[in-house]
Amino acid sequence: MTGDGTRVVHAGVPEAVPGRPFLPGPAFGAPYHLEPVLGPQPGVDGYGRTDNPTWRALEGAIGELEGGECVTFASGMAAISAVLLSVLRPGDTVVVPADGYYKTRAFAASYLGERGVTVVEAPTVGPYPALETVRLLLVETPANPGLDVCDIAELAARVHAGGGLVAVDNTAATPLGQRPLDLGADISVASGTKALTGHSDILLGYACTRDPQLAAALTGWRGATGAVPGPFEAWLAHRSIGTLDLRLARQTANAAAVAEVLAAHPAVVSVRWPGRPEDPAHEVASRQMRRVPGVVTFTLAGKAAADQFLQAATLVFAATSFGGLHTSADRRAQWGDDTPEGLIRLSCGVEDTDDLVADVRKALDAIGA
Ligand SMILES: Cc1ncc(COP(=O)(O)O)c(C=O)c1O
Repeated sequence: MTGDGTRVVHAGVPEAVPGRPFLPGPAFGAPYHLEPVLGPQPGVDGYGRTDNPTWRALEGAIGELEGGECVTFASGMAAISAVLLSVLRPGDTVVVPADGYYKTRAFAASYLGERGVTVVEAPTVGPYPALETVRLLLVETPANPGLDVCDIAELAARVHAGGGLVAVDNTAATPLGQRPLDLGADISVASGTKALTGHSDILLGYACTRDPQLAAALTGWRGATGAVPGPFEAWLAHRSIGTLDLRLARQTANAAAVAEVLAAHPAVVSVRWPGRPEDPAHEVASRQMRRVPGVVTFTLAGKAAADQFLQAATLVFAATSFGGLHTSADRRAQWGDDTPEGLIRLSCGVEDTDDLVADVRKALDAIGA
């Protein structure tokens, strides 16, 4: 296999044809021309809610990186809800992360219970309930925002013993950080809004699987609900994936440096970054992940300290996403996440490491000053 940089630059890019662009522009089509007499034909695009060549190119790219068939969606939540609702039936049990993205939990609580599905929450590090009886285990590893990590292969073996399915939210890791399908998961689902595309300008989601029936169910669900990405977003995403290796490399280097500064600073109560040997997630992450993402989570004394940090930092945007070019920070409790008031999820961007470290140190020194 070629290196990550080569893979992302060439992923889903068509064969070289003289006179054509490297990556064809977005195909904007609601209806397409039909054959006037024969009408819709298999393999010929007919309508934009089910057919689009720009998605297909992007799906080719993500599918190559994840190692499965890819179905793209309008956002990460569109992809996650498609996985949950197309797999689960009344009487089924689903396990969702107790410490993962809070909207996934909220979605399960609001919409699955009333459909006769039993929803069980389990922390990423366990303990997990009896997995032999669940229809679907959804894990998020590393989990957002606490960055705990679970052993995908071990959990998949337990779930598969009972005939259930495993879906992994691969948002934080990206397919360059971890390949859940290789580790035994049935579905790798993610928000492409974050590091995968990394420019803080589009919403995107996807689910990848090696099971043709699951892929057909997800494609059918998308066509029926219309949870489709726009062609322009799909094209921007594909263009952005070409720099994924470079972006992740800088983000991870920045996170490593920032995590050390945080760990050494007296204003910081605790730091989580699975790349640090001292981190509780380090051992599993080193076995399972190809690289650790640029997100560091740390806790300050409380809201006042977090406010001071965010106001004093000049290179750190206050924003509720992660994985982008710009370093950003989010005090998670303000969204109703069940975290300490002073917990900040810091997403390292691609700024120069020395500049970012100096800015973070300055902002930490400003706390209580
Ligand atoms: C781990 C994780 N999964 C899914 C999502 C949802 O993605 P989107 O905002 O693209 O719907 C998020 C959003 O923050 C997330 O952090």
